Amino acid sequence: MGRWSYFVKDHCKEIILVDFSDAISWRARTSQGRRTRCFFKCDLKRLPFRDGFADFLFCLGVLHHLPTPCLDEVRSLKRAAPRLLIFLYYALDNRPWYFRLLLRGVTGLRRVLNRIRSGALRKLVSLAGTWLIYLPLILLGRLFQLVGAGRFIPLYDITMIKASDASNRNVYDRFFTRIEQRVSRQEILGLAGYVPAGYVSERFPYWHFVCEG
Ligand SMILES: C[S@@+](CC[C@H](N)C(=O)[O-])C[C@H]1O[C@@H](n2cnc3c(N)ncnc32)[C@H](O)[C@@H]1O
Repeated sequence: MGRWSYFVKDHCKEIILVDFSDAISWRARTSQGRRTRCFFKCDLKRLPFRDGFADFLFCLGVLHHLPTPCLDEVRSLKRAAPRLLIFLYYALDNRPWYFRLLLRGVTGLRRVLNRIRSGALRKLVSLAGTWLIYLPLILLGRLFQLVGAGRFIPLYDITMIKASDASNRNVYDRFFTRIEQRVSRQEILGLAGYVPAGYVSERFPYWHFVCEG
């Protein structure tokens, strides 16, 4: 939906936005900064631009949904610009072990639920997940945070973004995404020569990092 371009619009002459879904056509019609933004409906794996066409490229929350290894895709995108900002789902590698255990269960559930095709049923499941799982955990996280221990509760981080309205979309993404890859900090650092240690942010959301070189 191009929401991140808002933050760079005052720092560049031209922004090129790419998505292969109809979302990009909708955004092209509704965008306010049309003079500086160019919209392309295309596959990021086959960008119709020459190498090095951009000074800076950001790709946030996309590559982990591709069927090909997301770190390989980061390497490929390096052709487009000398500097990249990437966000990929983390492998919960900076969390207590029970987070990863929980994720295994949730992943099993996701594989079943994402076969649901009915939009109404998906909405119902998202709503149930929001009220029965997300909001109780967020509340518990807030209580634990009163003694500085919020990070021990799954989903506590969601309280850092807009809890109530974000969680519904989060639940939808959690249960109805067909492909979801996850990477550890160590794996990102393994992008030899591209990601210096200090460039993988220790701050939420995990992991976002800068690639250079
Ligand atoms: C989770 S959304 C994130 C979008 C945006 N970065 C944001 O944060 O609002 C993922 C988007 O990537 C797009 N997408 C997935 N695979 C793509 C591909 N191979 N080429 C272009 N766009 C792709 C999807 O259509 C979807 O709009």
